[in-house]
Amino acid sequence: MSQNDDVRRIYATVKEDFQAVNECIMAQLHSDVGLVEKIGHYIIDAGGKRLRPLLVLLSAGACGYKGDKHSTLAATIEFLHTATLLHDDVVDSSDLRRGRSTANARWGNSPSVLVGDFLFSRAFEMMVQINKMDVISTLASATNVIAEGEVMQLVNVRDPNLTEEQYREVIRCKTAMLFEASTHTAALLAEASSEKIEALKAYGNHLGLAFQLVDDLLDYTGDSDTMGKNAGDDLAEGKVTLPLIHAMANGTQEQTTAIRKAIRGNGLEHLGEVMAAMKACGSLNYTAQSARDEANKAIAAIQILDDTPHRQAMIDLAHMSVKRTA
Ligand code: IPE
Ligand code: IPE
Ligand code: MG
Ligand code: MG
Repeated sequence: MSQNDDVRRIYATVKEDFQAVNECIMAQLHSDVGLVEKIGHYIIDAGGKRLRPLLVLLSAGACGYKGDKHSTLAATIEFLHTATLLHDDVVDSSDLRRGRSTANARWGNSPSVLVGDFLFSRAFEMMVQINKMDVISTLASATNVIAEGEVMQLVNVRDPNLTEEQYREVIRCKTAMLFEASTHTAALLAEASSEKIEALKAYGNHLGLAFQLVDDLLDYTGDSDTMGKNAGDDLAEGKVTLPLIHAMANGTQEQTTAIRKAIRGNGLEHLGEVMAAMKACGSLNYTAQSARDEANKAIAAIQILDDTPHRQAMIDLAHMSVKRTA
């Protein structure tokens, strides 16, 4: 079975629910201000993997949820995610996203930031509709942590002394937090036992870490057309990720000096040297192995859930997330 078949099987577990999520996303994009709808549709219509809604639906299913608020919750979280992407592409000066020019490349930074704000605030309106205080509270805190993660990363830019521990804290905040919030809030919505809530939280956190580790690996090894976003952006921006940190810790003095220079200056001029050092030090393999370790922890965490098609899809998703190329 091909990778695509595996992915299709995972999404098929919650196919009908997904229809409702997509309808909710479209309906909630409504605004009387033309530019808001235009930019909102531009990024949303480009699709994306809709992984976080998938996590909400699978987690709700795994907890036996019988209500109808999970589709609104899934759409809410996709709005939060999309808002972070609009802002992230401004901060990272990225020009390709979901196979299209970024909103900032097309309309400029100001509209991107402001429409990102609109998506955030619409997400909060949708949370209020869900009307469950523990869900609202979890999402409010998660949004706060994500913002802190992006700021921490900004502060760390072009710092070659960044440690692996500091890097892991950034990716926990900026990425894993929203994965965790997706599985956590679905479990809260389903009024699951505290043991199940903890299991799903841990799954979301570890899957999110695995996902960002792979994202950071693909930034060096991936294909821009397949990913729909440019490879090589991280080094160009002086973003210090695990492949670089590992190579600096394990390389020769010459290799370490070259990488430090690339981080401090115009990184892409040194891409050849940096890639050679990372390969020689096994840094790409180390990053891939770190992602596999996190995926295995995610799988271990949900062993206590009932054996349902939803739990099986979550196990398959963790395996897929470390094999992905896009
Ligand atoms: C991109 O997330 C941002 C990261 C956390 C790396 P996704 O890779 O889930 O983006 P889309 O939604 O599929 O475009
Ligand atoms: C994205 O991190 C994290 C958030 C959007 C909060 P990246 O900057 O690595 O994501 P991409 O590579 O631009 O998608
Ligand atoms: Mg980025
Ligand atoms: Mg990236």
